[in-house]
Amino acid sequence: MVSLTTRTGEQDGTGAWRRAARMARTAVAWLGLLLAAGPALSEDGYELWLRYVPVAADHAAGYRARATELVVPAATPTAQATRDELQRGLGGLLGKPPPLAARAGREGAILVGTPASLPQLVALGLDLSGLGEEGYLLRSVRIDGRPATVVAANTDTGALYGAFRLLRLVQTAQPLDGLDIREAPRLKLRLLNHWDNLDRYVERGYAGESIWDWHKLPGWKDPRYTDYARANASIGINGTVLNNVNTSAQALTPLYLRKAAALAEVFRPYGIKVYLSARFSAPIEIGGLETADPLDPAVRQWWKDKAAEIYRIIPGFGGFLVKANSEGQPGPQDYGRSHADGANMLAEALAPHGGIVMWRAFVYSHEEPDDRHKQAYNEFVPHDGSFAPNVLVQVKNGAIDFQPREPFHPLFGAMPKTPLMMEFQITKEYLGFATHLAYLAPLYEETLRADTYAQGPGSTVARVIDGSLDGHVLTGMAGVANIGSDRNWSGSHFDQANWFAFGRLAWNPDLESAAIAGDWVRMTFSNDPAVVEPVVAMMMGAREAVVDYMTPLGLHHLMGRGHHYGPGPWVSGGPRADWTSVYYHRADAQGIGFDRSASGSNAVAQYVPPVAGRFGNVDTVPEEFLLWFHHVPWDHRMASGRTLWDELVLRYGRGVDYVRGMRRTWDGLSGKIDAERHAQVAAFLAIQEDEAQWWRDASIAYFQTFSKRPLPAGAEPPPHPLSYYQSLEFPYAPGDGK
Ligand code: GCU
Repeated sequence: MVSLTTRTGEQDGTGAWRRAARMARTAVAWLGLLLAAGPALSEDGYELWLRYVPVAADHAAGYRARATELVVPAATPTAQATRDELQRGLGGLLGKPPPLAARAGREGAILVGTPASLPQLVALGLDLSGLGEEGYLLRSVRIDGRPATVVAANTDTGALYGAFRLLRLVQTAQPLDGLDIREAPRLKLRLLNHWDNLDRYVERGYAGESIWDWHKLPGWKDPRYTDYARANASIGINGTVLNNVNTSAQALTPLYLRKAAALAEVFRPYGIKVYLSARFSAPIEIGGLETADPLDPAVRQWWKDKAAEIYRIIPGFGGFLVKANSEGQPGPQDYGRSHADGANMLAEALAPHGGIVMWRAFVYSHEEPDDRHKQAYNEFVPHDGSFAPNVLVQVKNGAIDFQPREPFHPLFGAMPKTPLMMEFQITKEYLGFATHLAYLAPLYEETLRADTYAQGPGSTVARVIDGSLDGHVLTGMAGVANIGSDRNWSGSHFDQANWFAFGRLAWNPDLESAAIAGDWVRMTFSNDPAVVEPVVAMMMGAREAVVDYMTPLGLHHLMGRGHHYGPGPWVSGGPRADWTSVYYHRADAQGIGFDRSASGSNAVAQYVPPVAGRFGNVDTVPEEFLLWFHHVPWDHRMASGRTLWDELVLRYGRGVDYVRGMRRTWDGLSGKIDAERHAQVAAFLAIQEDEAQWWRDASIAYFQTFSKRPLPAGAEPPPHPLSYYQSLEFPYAPGDGK
């Protein structure tokens, strides 16, 4: 989308300026024509799902009749942002923004506000109870006998969310008649976690450098920060952790706090709080203390003073995210203290200001020789009930590390006295970086719907994290952001869908991935069913295809060392066994897979009995987790009747075929999607096909050295010997923090 800024004022008197203004007007007129003409105009993805392009001509009159005037008070920055967004959005969608009015006086008025900001709402007697501080209702009403549309909420932020919902209805070509929508978020904290370093390097980032231009902050606030806030508010995200979990203590110095404060100021009107990752050893590194022992009174005082300083500089600061005693990060165990001791010390410092601590459960120690799968559970479950009330334990969706498929983390359901926050990864560290098309909502949905059985059937992961299972009010979901300075934000057009889907699921973990994809495609590309249907279908199967061509049947952690780019099932040796591939697949002459059943590491015992029983038995484990939990003979009979070896080879090939199918689908959409975005997606799909083939060939070449079995009929042999795949090196692959 193109935005044009025209200026009037001091230069008005000069002929040159008049000519320039005339040219600008002509350009605007042309642009209007081009926009109205449909998808021919190229787009670069900057506008995300907030493109606000004109609605289809046959719908325009109907919408205009339902948007004849805007009654949106703008007494606060949030209300002003709401009004601006409605004018911008409806202006784009309907050709021009409806006029503003102080009171609804026409048929087809739109009123947006709170009972306090908009007295006309009070007379309508709307029931706003149960909507809380962020919910809204959207209703078709009559005012003085005239039809009107009302977006009402208890707070300005709720009204902002409602306004975005109204815009989404128009963007997705839904009617504005007979509306009766009530919505409130199911989770309290809906956060992005940026793994951004202060030098703008993004760990596991594939979309350019960090969008935070730390050096120019706080003096220069890039307008992009406002667009970031708009995009997040439009999907209900209400917080952002600005810096990497592997953080430098510098982020907590006054210099950087003032920079974070400038971002917080931009985000505040959009209901978004700023949080920071805190390095546990900061009292030593920037405080001049000799220890960071959480039970040392001087250390506790240092954190209290630091918290007070932060709240002075950043009013409304959200709190800390902490990675401690994990992958070399400092933590309370350095002093013989527990995770609870560490978290509670920070919680005590933040509590007087209303701040919270998100303490990560992604821990596995250097000394611990046991199955890495079991370590977080073993370390955290004994502390259930000992965390302060303003602490959440943030748990990755699975026990290893954001693999293309993992069973749900056994901590979900195992710590009923502690609020557990979900951590998903939006950036695709293990699913093909930015170039592979992999829509992640089905992965998120699969985890959220998984049944922990913690309190009998129906104890889903979604109910653990929304607090309803164990009665928690402090609840949340975090997504490791895929955002960078690339013009299209996420490194690829389709990766925007993962940001969008994350926000929608954090608002309502029961949403269906296909419905979310439908909204996203309509808002991002087109409402034309000839686009929506094939693109949604393509997206829905894409993650499964990645599972197939990278890690089928429960295999995991088989990627290249360090950067995690490309296949590396042969990776072995190095500093620790659980950073290698051979540790996870355990292929040998007999078979393949990690025995986590009672005869192996017994990680299954961390799940409650019905789940443990199902996962722990080779006959009942779902095939997608077969090799996650069992070491299985190559000739094991699969449900298909094939041997395990034949099935494995077939799944690898199936993944590649799916990508070929996506390419065909996408090629068929040429002309229905603007040329610039179409071309980039097409090019990325070609990369994906090559890389899917590479994963398949390298994996088969490697595993065949163990299975010593022929390929099943019809399967092409890998074109190169194994040594070729093993020789490939990618010293500058992005994202690994080096
Ligand atoms: C993964 C990832 C790291 C990251 C870590 C974490 O291991 O590769 O880059 O720091 O997860 O979540 O802390």
